[in-house]
Amino acid sequence: MHLTAPDERILAGEQGYVMQKAMEILAALGDIYDADRLIPVKSTQIAGVSYKTIGDAGLEWISDLSGVVRVPSILNPAGIDRLRWRELGVSEEFAAKQEQIIDAYEKLGIITECTCTPYHLRDDIAETGDHLAWSESSAVSYANSVIGARTNREGGPSALAAALIGKTPNYGYHLDENRIPSLAIRVEGELSGTDYGALGYIAGGIAGAKVSVFSLESVPTDDERKALGAAMAASGAVALYYIEGLPPHPPGGERGHRYVYERDIAERITIEHSEIAGVYGMCRCDPDIIALGCPHCSAEELAELRDLLAGKTVTKEFWICTSRALRNRHPDIVAGIESSGAKVICDTCMVVSPVCARYDCMMVASGKALAYVPQMCGTDAVLGRIEDCVRAAVGDAG
Ligand code: F3S
Repeated sequence: MHLTAPDERILAGEQGYVMQKAMEILAALGDIYDADRLIPVKSTQIAGVSYKTIGDAGLEWISDLSGVVRVPSILNPAGIDRLRWRELGVSEEFAAKQEQIIDAYEKLGIITECTCTPYHLRDDIAETGDHLAWSESSAVSYANSVIGARTNREGGPSALAAALIGKTPNYGYHLDENRIPSLAIRVEGELSGTDYGALGYIAGGIAGAKVSVFSLESVPTDDERKALGAAMAASGAVALYYIEGLPPHPPGGERGHRYVYERDIAERITIEHSEIAGVYGMCRCDPDIIALGCPHCSAEELAELRDLLAGKTVTKEFWICTSRALRNRHPDIVAGIESSGAKVICDTCMVVSPVCARYDCMMVASGKALAYVPQMCGTDAVLGRIEDCVRAAVGDAG
């Protein structure tokens, strides 16, 4: 990979050890993936934040770093709600270690908003055509498939290296040739809400890492596309998908000219509505916690939950995960939700919090959580529509 003269000097150690190591990571990735050069990134999103997932080794590594990031950089969810961890039953020791991790990132100039939906916070960190270095798989999918920006699925270290250098190697989803769909998925029947997470759960398992293009009978909202991409990235490794008729379009098909990529479609499948309905019934455990907001809820999703919970009282633990920025921006919506006894949880989520392991069965409305909760928490997970989740939380099975 070609490096500019200033980049070569960083690689030689002119700007210190940490910058040298950051450049080494990017140069090694560029060489492995045959990138021609480094390209500037607009923003980074950095995974490897929860003490539950990175442990003492990760804390030590981050604490040894110095320098300042060159582009807006946002953290992925941590293991605690930074204000309510006691109430949620997190240990003092875990919370202290978690705060040390966040402090270490903050010293590098990283925005310590811990969320998998950085695009809900501000529009200027990712716009159509921007190159990014984001880590969290649902955020990567949203950036590529909804915003029309370009990012690979970075590991924590490579996203951090990109943040410090302000660049990333030009390979993978940064290049037109890797953004052309090879799998066409026709979906039968109208979908809404959680159906998109169920669809993603099935489609991700079929697609693996292939770029897919969906033909749908209904038009999804951005939140439904968020749910679809998150689930596909969890049950498969899908970082980019398209929906026929909606931007972004595959390269060359910007005006919706399907023939531009038709010749590259190697496989066509149909997913029937009954298969999607079947995902709801995969597990029938009796939930002792209901947890929504995977990925973190948008303002619209919070408002929907406030309306569904109006006048009700929850009788089970009910988490609604979102970013702290949105919680702070919408105090009236949050107050409406919490008057039911549900908890609007920030900075963390039902998968990366250590608390989730205490429950036997979690009801979720997310295909991603359905895939990850059993793996990461050892807890059974059952999928429900939002309305079913609210019914379960208020103890009204009917
Ligand atoms: Fe976000 Fe946690 Fe789900 S990081 S996508 S809420 S597993």
